Formats: sequence, structure tokens, C-alpha cells
Amino acid sequence: MMREKWSSSLGFILASIGSAVGLGNIWRFPYIVGLNGGGAFLIPYLIAVFLCGLPLMVLEFAMGRNSKNSVVATLSTIRKRFRFAGFFLVFVMGMILSYYLVITSWVLAYSLFFISGVTISFSAFTGSYYPLLFFLISGIMSFVVVRAGVRRGIEKLSKFLVPVLFGMLCILVVFSLSLPGAMRGIEFYLTPDFSKLFNPFVWTAAFGQAFFSLSVGVGIMLTYGSYMGEERIVKNAAIITVADLLVAILSGLVIFPIVFSFGLDPAAGVKLAFVTLPPIFQQMSFGSFWGAVFFLLLFLAALTSSISMLEVPVATLIDSYGFKRKNATMIVSLIVILIGLPSALSYTTLQLELFGRPLLDLKDFAFGTVGIIASGLVLSIIAGWFLDPGIIFKEIKGGRRIQKLFLIIIRFFIPLILFINLIARVIKPD
Ligand code: ALA
Repeated sequence: MMREKWSSSLGFILASIGSAVGLGNIWRFPYIVGLNGGGAFLIPYLIAVFLCGLPLMVLEFAMGRNSKNSVVATLSTIRKRFRFAGFFLVFVMGMILSYYLVITSWVLAYSLFFISGVTISFSAFTGSYYPLLFFLISGIMSFVVVRAGVRRGIEKLSKFLVPVLFGMLCILVVFSLSLPGAMRGIEFYLTPDFSKLFNPFVWTAAFGQAFFSLSVGVGIMLTYGSYMGEERIVKNAAIITVADLLVAILSGLVIFPIVFSFGLDPAAGVKLAFVTLPPIFQQMSFGSFWGAVFFLLLFLAALTSSISMLEVPVATLIDSYGFKRKNATMIVSLIVILIGLPSALSYTTLQLELFGRPLLDLKDFAFGTVGIIASGLVLSIIAGWFLDPGIIFKEIKGGRRIQKLFLIIIRFFIPLILFINLIARVIKPD
């Protein structure tokens, strides 16, 4: 059977933006900015995005288009034993998806609550059977899209949802900036406190966040790249990166004015979106409408990211083991739902915990923070030191100086930065 391809450059770009733009931008970015001292965080973040994230995205696209194969097959053609590295990437990806779907399901539930005018606190929500129900619904939705295929599922959905998402975000920014006291939020968000830059953990947070947000290091962009035609890799990766950055920055312009105009704590952490914001929406005039728009935006962003994560193991089963797409999607979805169940239950009355932390948080730390950095490290070492650079240069084109610079970044800079990051995470888990 012919391997699928994106139907157009636009389809490929929108699907990749859909993958990159997710909970990481709208929910995680503002609270990480809040925890790491506001505006100053933007400096390490921009450096992380353009010196590490963007080159890694270019690398993944180049490797994928060259091999036209899954992550496991791509790595095992470099050296047979590297297929284990491929399995590691797929494993980390699956584990991230298994808890990412849980949060996706929360935002789906919250958007429906706001649409239907139901008022429910976070503790009442997590104490009910809703988390489980919505977890299953979100899993099934991702399954349906990926099962439909690259063009008819992933691309079609992204072409529709990504423009809608940008439109909703712009409307929310205008609304948020018009709130009384909005400027205090903007000041907090955008005034840099340079003393923060002496804290190495602010830097490691920036690199971790950039990887998570750009969907790099775990084979998503490699898999999406494997469906590319003759598109220009560097230009498209730059467009995707800038779009992702723009959404993150605009999300801060939505959240901080709201939080400050109601005099609340901007560093509320993970709970910012689920505990801090809903009561604020409930106090506002037309709050149900704005709450619904906000959570729907989060859900659409999360859904287009979830399907890209699901595609990584699905493509592996199809390309490396000859499965049919419908069977591969069914098997992977079932496994992901089973693995995700304990994290879906960790915030319910069952309170599934390990080492005193809810399973969901533990997974976010182990896979969404440490695992993603470890897999990015593995990928950059294999690509930088074992893959013939000519293969990458042929894909990305560009002059000799650009090629040389790219090789230095992939061989030395990214592995070094990721290694330091990994050590920092072990010393100071957050
Ligand atoms: N890149 C996706 C996000 O930001 C995973 O949520």
C-alpha cells in the first residue's frame, strides 16, 4: 500500500502547528512564566526556542522525510541497535499521551460545563465520575481522527481547527485586555526582572517548556516529516515555531490580565486554569460565555496535539510491523487508555498516589519533564554523531556555513544543554 502524504504544504504546516500548539502553550506556559518571575522568563525561553527547539524540529523533519518511515524504523536504519532508542521515544510519547489525555478530558468537561451553565468546583468535579467519563470520550475522539488517516483525519481536522483556534485566541486577548486592572497583569508579564536570569533553574524550566511546547524530541515531528513532500523544511519549521511562540505569548496576554484584575495569585501553578480561573469567569458578566470560549480553545488545542502523539506509535505499528491503520489505532488507543486510567483516577476520590504525589503529576514529571529531555538527548546524539550529515544537508539545503552551524548545534550544543537540564531536573525536581 502507498504510504500516505500530506495533501498540501498548508495542510502539513497546519497539522504541525496543531501538534505544537496545545496545553503547553495556553495552560502550562503562563503558569511557568508566573512561577519563574514573569517577563524575565521570556529571555531564556526565546533562546531555548530558537537555539534548541527550532533546530531539533528541522532535524526531525529532515530525518522523517529522508526515511519516509516511523521513528523506530528511521533510527534502526542508522544502526540496528538504535531501534531500542526508537522504542524508548515511542514509550515516552505513549506515557505523555496517557496523562495528556486526562487533562484534555478536563478541559473538554469544563467547556461543556460552561456551555451548559453548570457550576462545579474542581474538587466536586474530581470527586465525581466525570473525569473517567470524559477521559474515555477524549480517548475515543483522538482514536476516531487518527483512524481516519493522515489526510482525511489529522490534516482535515487541523485545517479547520487551527484557524478557529487563532480566531478564538485573538477574541480572548481583546476581551482580557479590556478588563479593569488589565495593565497590572501586563506589567507583571512583560517587565523583565533580570536578577532571575542568575537562577539556573529558570533556564532549565525554559528549555523543558520549549521542548514540550514545540512537540520536539519524542518523534512527533519526525513522524509528521515522514509524510512530507517537497516542502522547504527550514522555512516551514520557522513558521511553525513562530506560530507556537505567538500562541504562548498571546495566552499570557489572556491569563494575566484576568488574574490580576481579580487580585489573584499568578503563580498558582498547575491549578491556575482549573481552580483559579473558573470562579473568576463565574463572577464576570457573560462569564459563562467567556469561560466556554476559553476552555473550548484549550480543548481544541489539546485535541490536535493528542492526535499527533497518538500517530507516533500508530505509525510504528503500521510501518514496522505491517498493521492496518484501523487495527494499529485501535490497539494503541486501548493501551494508552489503560495506562492512562490510573492517572485519570489520581484526582478522584480514589486519590491514586505514589511517593505522596498524584500519579498524574508524577507522570508529568517523569515523562513530560525528564523523559522528553532524555529522549531529545538520545535523538540528537544519534543524529549528530551516527547519521551521515550529508543526508540532513540534502534535506535542508542551505549554504555551507548554515550547514556547519547546524551540525555544531546538533552535535554539541543541544546534547550539552539537554544533559545539563537532565542533571538539573534530578537535583531539583519541580
Ligand atoms: N506541544 C504540545 C503542547 O504544547 C504537546 O501541549
